[in-house]
Order: sequence, then structure tokens, then C-alpha cells
Amino acid sequence: MSNISFGIDVGGSGIKGAKVDLANGEFIGDRIKILTPQPATPDAVAETVAEVLRQAEWDGPVGITLPSVIRNHTARSAANIDPSWIGTDVTELFHRHLGDRKVSVLNDADAAGLAEAAYGTPEARSGSVIFLTFGTGIGSAFLMDGNLFPNSEIGHLEVAGKEAEHRASSAVKEREGLSWKKWAKQVSKVLQTYEKLFSPSLFIVGGGISRKHEKWVPLLSCDTPVIAAELKNRAGIVGAAMAAHEDIQP
Ligand code: BGC
Repeated sequence: MSNISFGIDVGGSGIKGAKVDLANGEFIGDRIKILTPQPATPDAVAETVAEVLRQAEWDGPVGITLPSVIRNHTARSAANIDPSWIGTDVTELFHRHLGDRKVSVLNDADAAGLAEAAYGTPEARSGSVIFLTFGTGIGSAFLMDGNLFPNSEIGHLEVAGKEAEHRASSAVKEREGLSWKKWAKQVSKVLQTYEKLFSPSLFIVGGGISRKHEKWVPLLSCDTPVIAAELKNRAGIVGAAMAAHEDIQP
């Protein structure tokens, strides 16, 4: 079986895809990015996914991430995407737009966590790890010795009267012009709540802002160790490609 797969990460601003070499988790060729259509309805997004695949000239199996709970092939939440996703049969949707091929759909943070466990920091593969992505929202993946418990969605847990992702996503930092110090304080509150509830052995923090981890990870205060993800923005696409190859269907 070929070790080459294709992953697509559907985000609020861009739909990004690349061919992935599963021997090492690296991209083959350039990453393709098309702006997310607005409104980001299921049909408009699926048509853009089809365009990414056309541009890449890829007609094999494909893995696709969505910022949504995915269970039994159905999207069950829509915090930062069009509400019309809720209740959408994603397998039917993508087969209609992408033709007869294997399609695996999973949550974006779950995909990123799987990729980190496979190709990132070795610490992601042992113990009870909470992997978090900081972006428009806060995504989460629960990993036990590298195995995924999907759809944890703890970015929506209430932390001191406010949803975690409304308190400490990187979008909040940008929108409110928070300094690293002020933002790290909010992230710390979120992590302290998570450790009280779940007692993980480690937090791994990812998402675009983890590229600047040295500016904020040392400022965090909680009892659990916190390290930065190694895969940064690549993780969603790589995890999607893994899901296609391994036929992961949460
Ligand atoms: C969504 C999650 C997603 C996260 C990061 C949250 O608002 O509910 O499904 O993983 O944002 O995109």
C-alpha cells in the first residue's frame, strides 16, 4: 500500500491541502490554499475541497478536518462555521462533490493531535496528554499513550463564568490587543481548570501561535507540565492524511 496520502484542513479563513508522505509526516510538493467561501455552508466548502483536489491532481482517498464534532459520519456542532453544518451527513456530502473515493472526516484538533503523536514530540505518545490548539477557537484532543479519545471539545468548557475559547483563544488575544503576559494569564486560568477536572500528565499546546511558544509558554502557571507542539500549522493536514490512510471514522 502506498505511503502517500492527502489531507485537507478546513479552517475559518482558508481550506488547505497537501500530499503527505506518511513515512515521515512531511508534505510532498506545495501546500494548496483557497480562501474559505463565505458563507461557509456545507456545499460551498465541499466544492472548494473539490477544487483543492483538482489543483493538486489527486484522485485517491482523502482525509478532511472540520472544526466540528464528527460522530457517525455526521457533523454535530458548529461553533466557528456555518450553523447549517449541524446534522449534515459529511460522508454523503463529500461523496457527492468528490466522486467515488474513500473519504475520512474528523475534527480538526483531533487530527492535529493524532499527527503530533505520530510525528511530533515523543512526549505526545506516552501518558494522558491533553493536546490543545489555539486559533479562532480552542480545539482539543485527548490522547492516551498516543491513542485518541475523539470529540473532547473542552474549548467550550466554562472557565470562571466564560467559555474557555472566548477567554483565551489566539483570536481573543488579537481582538483585544492583549500582551503576551495578559493573554498567558487567561490561558493559565483555562489550563488550571482543565487540570482540576482531568489531571493529565502533560499539556501540549499547538496552533499557529505555538510558533511563538517561547513568548508565552514560559509565562504559564499551572501544576502540569506544558510543552509546545512540534508540528505547528502542518498538523491538521497531516492528521487528515493519516485518517484517510488508516480509514479513521470517528
Ligand atoms: C470547535 C472545535 C474545533 C476548535 C478549533 C472550536 O470552536 O468547537 O470543534 O476543534 O474550535 O478549530
